[in-house]
Amino acid sequence: MSARAASRLTSALDTVLDRSLVLGYTRIGPALRRRWWPADPEPGCLAGQRVVVTGATSGIGEAMVTSFARLGATVHVLGRNPAKVSTVVAEVRRTLPGAELVEEVCDVGDLDAVRAWCDDLTARLAADGDQGALRGLVHNAGAMVTERTETAQGHELALAVHVLGPHLMTERLLPLLGADPGSPGSVVWMSSGGMYSAGLRSTPDEIEFRPVEGEQEYSGVRGYARTKRMQVEIADAWNDRPDVAGGPVGGPVVRVESCHPGWAATPGITDSLPGFDKVMGPLLRDAGSGADTAVWLVATRPDSAGTHHFWHDRRPRPTTYPVQRRTDPAARRALLDHVAAATGTVWP
Ligand SMILES: NC(=O)c1ccc[n+]([C@@H]2O[C@H](COP(=O)([O-])OP(=O)(O)OC[C@H]3O[C@@H](n4cnc5c(N)ncnc54)[C@H](OP(=O)(O)O)[C@@H]3O)[C@@H](O)[C@H]2O)c1
Repeated sequence: MSARAASRLTSALDTVLDRSLVLGYTRIGPALRRRWWPADPEPGCLAGQRVVVTGATSGIGEAMVTSFARLGATVHVLGRNPAKVSTVVAEVRRTLPGAELVEEVCDVGDLDAVRAWCDDLTARLAADGDQGALRGLVHNAGAMVTERTETAQGHELALAVHVLGPHLMTERLLPLLGADPGSPGSVVWMSSGGMYSAGLRSTPDEIEFRPVEGEQEYSGVRGYARTKRMQVEIADAWNDRPDVAGGPVGGPVVRVESCHPGWAATPGITDSLPGFDKVMGPLLRDAGSGADTAVWLVATRPDSAGTHHFWHDRRPRPTTYPVQRRTDPAARRALLDHVAAATGTVWP
């Protein structure tokens, strides 16, 4: 068989796995795909480079810390609970004694805390001169809440943790992500395959999950899926920005991608979806496989020109299936406007 025919065949097989969900999202997906997916990052390829991982105190984030450290990166291990951050850092150091790890504490759903932490990191890295650039920022922190909860700034919690905080963090760390033109940064939003079940809403009340006429009561699962959909839309919107894509204003080519991890065995799944965990448990992939695509995106910066920026198992994936309606442009615009207003930022 020619290389071209083989590539077509594996592409078709990969798509079948993806559409079947169970085959693609579970441990079966990477077990098969690793036969044809792109090469692993070179060992040591991130030596001397810095990566921030949020939600690093559990599950996929913790696995990501180990993977980045194995590639030689200095990993900024960010969590909201300082004791948990120290425990993870000690644990990873036990496995990888030479790992360069920096403990970071920030609640990504609290916009004031995000501003303060970004300013603090920027000041600390400025003192490091040549070593002050950021090579990767992975927005991995995530949570599924059971009832509508507001943050200190009055935003719905899932929206704040999945969308507003990460957007503000990206905005404020953009100078660090573009600080080394020879090795510009990558931002990855860890979304979820659950986002396929959700569309966007268009008024600020709907975006904030405040009760509106005709809307059912708050549902944590729906809030989770909708904010995960928002992450994918926002990552695509970031890629349209001239100041990240090296467009007309010639900014540094910072990449912004989103991905989903499939279904991975983590404390998050056990706590939030015990029924799902019970049924799917033996088939779930491990946390490292869930972390794989985000790590690979940062380490290799694959060319995604002309595609959407949503990935799974080292391949771009559609953001809607053919049977679904595409995102309503008015709802997308309303979301971007609301995110800008809530975070005090401007879309260039
Ligand atoms: N596991 C899966 O199958 C799966 C599927 C689809 C998508 N995902 C996504 O993958 C990411 C990681 O999930 P996981 O399964 O590893 O979940 P997990 O085990 O619950 O870990 C979530 C992490 O996010 C942190 N976090 C939550 N709220 C935060 C906040 N306000 N500020 C800072 N950190 C916060 C948690 O910190 P604490 O330790 O302090 O709680 C924890 O470190 C999430 O974004 C999730 O939506 C996972």
